[in-house]
Amino acid sequence: NKGKYEHYMQKEIHEQPESLTTTMRGRLIRGGSCKAKAVLLGGLKDHLKTIRRSRRIVFIGCGTSYNAALAARPVLEELSGVPVTMEIASDLLDRQGPIYREDTAVFVSQSGETADTLRALEYALENGALCVGITNTVGSVIARNTHCGIHINAGCEIGVASTKAYTSQIAVMAMLALAIGGDTISNQERREAIIDGLFDLPNKIREVLKLDQEMKDLAKLLIAEQSLLVFGRGYNFATALEGALKVKEVALMHSEGILAGEMKHGPLALVDENLPIVVIATRDACFSKQQSVIQQLHARKGRLIVMCSKGDAASVCSGGACRVIEVPQVEDCLQPVVNIVPLQLLAYHLTVLRGYNVDQPRNLAKSVTTQ
Ligand code: F6R
Repeated sequence: NKGKYEHYMQKEIHEQPESLTTTMRGRLIRGGSCKAKAVLLGGLKDHLKTIRRSRRIVFIGCGTSYNAALAARPVLEELSGVPVTMEIASDLLDRQGPIYREDTAVFVSQSGETADTLRALEYALENGALCVGITNTVGSVIARNTHCGIHINAGCEIGVASTKAYTSQIAVMAMLALAIGGDTISNQERREAIIDGLFDLPNKIREVLKLDQEMKDLAKLLIAEQSLLVFGRGYNFATALEGALKVKEVALMHSEGILAGEMKHGPLALVDENLPIVVIATRDACFSKQQSVIQQLHARKGRLIVMCSKGDAASVCSGGACRVIEVPQVEDCLQPVVNIVPLQLLAYHLTVLRGYNVDQPRNLAKSVTTQ
């Protein structure tokens, strides 16, 4: 049932304040006067000690689920102190990469049925790792065959392009980072800021969804383009990859997410006055580096669309013409949840304007059960 919406993808994008609320329900404790703010993940509580002691945490997934894990990686490293590595399920299998008994392998999958992720799970089980599942489907194979896990509770996702599952996956992995990190005096302030940020996230998503018309107008400008680059770094490298994935899979337009730190090592050669480039430059520790990326792109007459924090429009675009997308600022590690929304809206509107099927893109299936 699409309700007042024309397409499932549109409905699922606009549903994100509610899906995030359900994802967090009962899992975050609001600190009262004498009660500390805390995170409760029932499915993991007997395994937290083992996870904390593991030699590394390996995230394993495909497509959007991989991107969600990439978005959560920095905060997990920061709070747990455990090295976190990333594996695309098929690539891990192709290489038969090393997985050890001392590893915690976290399998991220909306459907819980993706063949590559499932094979990688079998492989990690054979190698003796502790296997954790993060899925949206209760009773799915990945949920059943992992040692423990967390359901993201985003509600059924029907559009082939994953949207609300992505934001709920990141929220769950931020809670996972808080749960693994545990309470220490030194990180107390940071933990509380993240928990407050999670509580407030649905409101911030409501705010960023107001950019719908602006994203439709931007889509009109980009309708006939051949290609769109998206530059991000730090917490928002994942946003660049995921934004580009949305544009290519539904709008059938070539799009590439690029790590901004790699710009000078090749991609800069593509920049001219015609190719549209989205640069994600919201406030965090990488902000000044992104400002200098923008300067360099301006110097090559790049056609820029800059995503920045509210109030930063003038400072990010000094020295050249560009279009700006202003988004509400949240705790840095949660910013990818906010920043993906305008790009989901852009991909959606581009697709409708270009006349393609948004909910069932050419050649794709909702869950990929063959290798
Ligand atoms: C993109 C998309 C795919 C899936 C990928 C993994 O919008 O939907 O990239 O994310 O096929 O699927 P799950 O998460 O079900 O394992």
